[in-house]
Amino acid sequence: MDKIVIEGGRRLEGSTRINGAKNAALPIMAACLLLHGPSRIRGVPNIVDIETQSEILKNLGGEIKRHEDGTLEIGFRDGENEGKFTAPYELVSKMRASICVLGPLLSKRRKAKVSYPGGCIIGQRPIDLHIKGLKALGAQIETTEGYITASVERLKGAEISLMGQYGITVLGTCNVMTAAVLAEGTTIIEHAACEPEVQDLANFLNKAGAKITGIGESRLTIEGVQELHGVDYEIIPDRIEAGTFMIAGAITRGDIALENVKVEHLSAVIDKLREIGVEVTPVGNSVRVKGNSSYHPVDLTTLPYPGMPTDMQAQFMALLCTVEGKSVITEKVFPDRFIHSPELQRMGADIRVEGSCAIVSGTPFLSGTNVMVSDLRAGAGLVLAGLVAQGTTHVHRIYHLDRGYERLEKRLTDLGAVIKRIHD
Ligand code: EPZ
Repeated sequence: MDKIVIEGGRRLEGSTRINGAKNAALPIMAACLLLHGPSRIRGVPNIVDIETQSEILKNLGGEIKRHEDGTLEIGFRDGENEGKFTAPYELVSKMRASICVLGPLLSKRRKAKVSYPGGCIIGQRPIDLHIKGLKALGAQIETTEGYITASVERLKGAEISLMGQYGITVLGTCNVMTAAVLAEGTTIIEHAACEPEVQDLANFLNKAGAKITGIGESRLTIEGVQELHGVDYEIIPDRIEAGTFMIAGAITRGDIALENVKVEHLSAVIDKLREIGVEVTPVGNSVRVKGNSSYHPVDLTTLPYPGMPTDMQAQFMALLCTVEGKSVITEKVFPDRFIHSPELQRMGADIRVEGSCAIVSGTPFLSGTNVMVSDLRAGAGLVLAGLVAQGTTHVHRIYHLDRGYERLEKRLTDLGAVIKRIHD
């Protein structure tokens, strides 16, 4: 297993380019199951989750070619793949986002058998809202032997609320939306997720001939159409990758510029960084982040978009561990998502977790040691802490990081970090 080794204490300087968004690319790739003819999807990051999604789609008859410039060509031959409707445990267990083939399969092939994704290290991740939405469209769904088996004669438009115990659902909205685009009649989704990645999927589908209105609002209206066609589409920049690099600049008290950023997707992150005392200056499609040595503690609550993304919580926690005073982090999306805190404590951080809150008291310094990655964003938080820690940090189980960040150590090296990957 590979590990990352970081010599902390280097101030980052320079610029890096942000990739296309993983969490937009994954449902858009799945939506290609709906289209007649091949598509070109541009700006797709070269990461393990994209490889896994490609494997799942190939298993379903997809013909997929990746180009050096990050363009994916994806197509399915009509009439040749009707008998292929299974996403097996071996692939789904690698990545929860594979659940987003459920809606497109059901819509296009009238049948879907997708391994139940199960729990996950960031907490409970039920799919009851996905199932509720698809059932409202007329699907018969049962769960047996660890698989969700769904079938339908013809999906029919309906009014559906996707509000759950913890608020809205991102991939649940994607699943119901992709099922509804070819359904008979009109579907209204109340309490739809407004995340930029959901908007990107809707824009992709509209370019392919769908009729979706209310994009970016909590009420989506989808008028079913007969057929969708292949398109050429550029994925939005990854706001979580951008936010992670912004914190790399801030935590090292550095001065870095990020290219290919949609600043409007990062308002909550930028506002919080400014409240901490970081200088953030957007210029067109890029943003400059300048750190300094007088930061303030803050309170932070994760929420659905446009609130603070839960996928930035671990990175902010790493930064706040280095800020004198008491900060309180409240996790409202995945209340148990604090697995990174004991690892940060191993580095000398002072964190007390109480239910869905973490109280972080800044310490004069963090020190390098062995830490273990439990999930993608926890890993990002640990690498950020390693960049500023005194001494050497060994970050183990970095396969989680490879799922979502392309060449992370190479890009941090280019910014002046002393970081390398070791094949253990
Ligand atoms: C997406 O997961 C992202 N994944 C996650 O990013 C992200 O953390 C999450 O949205 C929240 O923003 C992808 O886009 C691939 P949810 P998703 O359904 O859609 C509860 C990363 O690191 N819920 O919006 O699976 C659920 O338990 C990943 O890139 C139900 O109760 O998340 C949670 O508390 C990690 N019933 C809340 O809703 C359901 O049927 C939000 O989950 C579905 C969800």
